[in-house]
Amino acid sequence: MNKQTVLSGIRPTGYLHLGNYFGAVQNFLRMQDDYNCFFFIADIHSLTTHPTPENLQSGVRQVLAEYLACGIDPEKATIFIQSDVPEVSELYAFLNMNAYLGELERTTSFKDKARQQPDNVNAGLLTYPVLMAADIIIHKANFVPVGKDQEQNLEMARKFAKRFNRMYNKEVFPIPQPYTFGGGDMIKVPGLDGSGKMGKSEGNAINLFEDPKSIRKKVMRAVTDSGPTEMNQQKPEAIQNLFTLMKIVSTADTVTHFDGLYNNCEIRYGDLKKHLAEDIIAYTSPIRERIIEILEDDAYLAKVAKMGAEKARESASRTLNEVKDVIGFRKLF
Ligand code: AMP
Ligand code: TRP
Repeated sequence: MNKQTVLSGIRPTGYLHLGNYFGAVQNFLRMQDDYNCFFFIADIHSLTTHPTPENLQSGVRQVLAEYLACGIDPEKATIFIQSDVPEVSELYAFLNMNAYLGELERTTSFKDKARQQPDNVNAGLLTYPVLMAADIIIHKANFVPVGKDQEQNLEMARKFAKRFNRMYNKEVFPIPQPYTFGGGDMIKVPGLDGSGKMGKSEGNAINLFEDPKSIRKKVMRAVTDSGPTEMNQQKPEAIQNLFTLMKIVSTADTVTHFDGLYNNCEIRYGDLKKHLAEDIIAYTSPIRERIIEILEDDAYLAKVAKMGAEKARESASRTLNEVKDVIGFRKLF
């Protein structure tokens, strides 16, 4: 039987953090054996923030090394860089003709970004979900493992795929589904600053590449309160966030232990944080060591990128030819 196709991407705007790892990469790792997987580095998307050429290059190299260090296997999955596959930009141009200003303006990610960078509300930000849809459907992906924050963008991709199929009355694209391993909810890894998600632009991220000293410092600085005053009290957001992180990186026994202390009003946040920091370090240290090793091997990085580009272009150009035919571009020579 043909394997179903999975695709996901990450923007190379910094180091991979725990949110990326547990929201996205961990799902990729569990899928690479059973699915036809495409994992890519969304360098065109990252241009919305106007990186310098140096930052763009080092960001792409870093994320590539980090994907590999996490255990994504380039022999099993296709790992590629978005800009190495020009077909995607062509499909993006076609899809833009059927994407409407109103729906693009209403996306929360656009509204968030417009708020975060009010001096740079460019058209790329507005049509970000269109490019993301092109990324996904050019490989006819069935599943897209992403974190909760990408839910709406993925919904837009589904909409654009359906619209195209309907417009040309042909099932060119499968409708991509969100995917979480084990069928659970999409994950949202919280930040340590009391509210919201962990993210690069939020400035609250713990990176996989972070050294132990810096991890301890960040965790110890996490926002808490003066402690519970009543037994079995509901946890405020900042405290719940620490527990959510602990559930992700620590054993169930550890979580139960600190939960019990909280419920008895005996918790000392300092102890919880120390434990949490060490458990994060245990998770990230081996990955960090591999990142360092892989970053030293330029020839290997180049080989992986080249192999991925070839495989991704083959798949993308197959779809693009079909799309052009369906749209009605006819060759006159
Ligand atoms: P980004 O770093 O925004 O390019 O995100 C890359 C991938 O990581 C996407 O699939 C996101 O959904 C996922 N991701 C980023 N931050 C988080 C988070 N705090 N929790 C869960 N998933 C996340
Ligand atoms: N928008 C995603 C993010 O910021 C990155 C991304 C771009 C992506 N294209 C994609 C994710 C296609 C999944 C599929 O996290």
